[in-house]
Amino acid sequence: MKISVIGTGYVGLVTGTCLAETGNDVLCVDIDKGKVDKMQKGQVPIYEPHLDIIFNRNIKANRLKFSTSLKDGVEHGDIIFLALPTPEDDDGSADLSYVLEAAKDIGRLLKSYKVIVDKSTVPVGTADKVTEVISKETDIEFDVVSNPEFLREGFAVDDFLKPERIVIGSSSNRAIELMEKLYKPFVRSGNPIIIMDERSAELTKYAANAFLATKITFMNEIANFCEKVGADVDKVRVGMGTDSRIGKRFLFPGIGYGGSCFPKDVKALHKSGQDANYNFNILDAVIKVNDVQKKVLIPRIESYFNQDIKGKTFAIWGLAFKPETDDIREAPAIYMIEDLLNRGANINVFDPEAMDNVKNRFGEAIRYSNNMYDTTIDADALIISTEWSIFRTPNFAKLKNNLKQPVIFDGRNLYEVEDMVKEGFYYSSIGRKDAN
Ligand SMILES: NC(=O)c1ccc[n+]([C@@H]2O[C@H](COP(=O)([O-])OP(=O)(O)OC[C@H]3O[C@@H](n4cnc5c(N)ncnc54)[C@H](O)[C@@H]3O)[C@@H](O)[C@H]2O)c1
Repeated sequence: MKISVIGTGYVGLVTGTCLAETGNDVLCVDIDKGKVDKMQKGQVPIYEPHLDIIFNRNIKANRLKFSTSLKDGVEHGDIIFLALPTPEDDDGSADLSYVLEAAKDIGRLLKSYKVIVDKSTVPVGTADKVTEVISKETDIEFDVVSNPEFLREGFAVDDFLKPERIVIGSSSNRAIELMEKLYKPFVRSGNPIIIMDERSAELTKYAANAFLATKITFMNEIANFCEKVGADVDKVRVGMGTDSRIGKRFLFPGIGYGGSCFPKDVKALHKSGQDANYNFNILDAVIKVNDVQKKVLIPRIESYFNQDIKGKTFAIWGLAFKPETDDIREAPAIYMIEDLLNRGANINVFDPEAMDNVKNRFGEAIRYSNNMYDTTIDADALIISTEWSIFRTPNFAKLKNNLKQPVIFDGRNLYEVEDMVKEGFYYSSIGRKDAN
């Protein structure tokens, strides 16, 4: 089939590449000329494991092309995916301007029947809005489908190629048939394509993300409580997670959820509730708890240094909002760096993939190291904010030698407390007793 993808970010590029991988003829359109130039030269503009291999394979096979022209995109695809940003607006709602402006332009350019697919995460009622905007510009027949994306950054290729489910929201049989044909190769093992109305599909995505954010946040509160009463959250986590009704995943406590999805999606669902005269009390609490959790290490650091961290130097390991991505949107590390800089601290950072994005954000205000150990040279303490695998078994002797004093604040519980006692570190983690 001929497919166009408008917006070639984390979702759009993975969507386009994986659809090319199953034999479709895909044109990816992006407004960012620099990005399109890079992709045309065979360079993947984001870090996403395994993407480069299928990206290059499909470019060579002439099934994957790139353009800055929306006109070309509208002409090319029988199905046109909108994978555009829906960032948080000032009032917490999802900013639909990217989606609706693209819809208007598509309406003007339409020459034959097309299926326009909302792949972006959009509030309930957006498919109707997109339909209305396009209808104002054209009499040509078209359908709008809601097809929310559930991929996870860091596992995006696998998630797209082997989805647990595909949700398609549409009231048009013609559009549903085309979408089923497109997705059939991805569900050969029997995972479902779930067909529903547009509004339910739109809400499914928000409900899933808000639920997961709530699960993480609940566990963070349990961890904070563990510290007050001398319980160990790791033991509680295992005890709880073995109950199949609860499950083992998303129970790891830490310094809050971040990223380009959970924070904005929880807020957007909360705002949608307010707009419909419904107060999502639970989401209200999740937002508040997570805001505090992102900086939960700061008061401990201050307390350790007797409220005097001005001029102190902190090494930070991990800047991306989670491992296996270069995405720093809403990353807890970013909030911590800002806070520590405001308090007059010096910051040395290292991340395996996110350094360039952090350089764009902080410039000369912080120092960047080429490897994890160099960050710690003459630092007063090490702070861990992302659980990259390479941080899991460090050379503690080297660390001890580099740091001014053996102090680690670990926002991701990478090490056993008992081991840190043996290694002779002051070690503060989440929901467990400190090692002194
Ligand atoms: N990132 C994720 O893990 C993820 C997962 C599921 C759903 N989503 C949702 O998917 C959507 C896209 O997210 P993303 O992370 O891929 O965003 P992104 O910011 O990485 O990518 C968006 C792309 O759209 C391009 N763009 C902006 N305006 C454009 C225009 N008018 N025409 C063409 N291109 C334009 C940008 O240059 C950028 O490359 C959002 O709604 C997000 O909530 C994201």
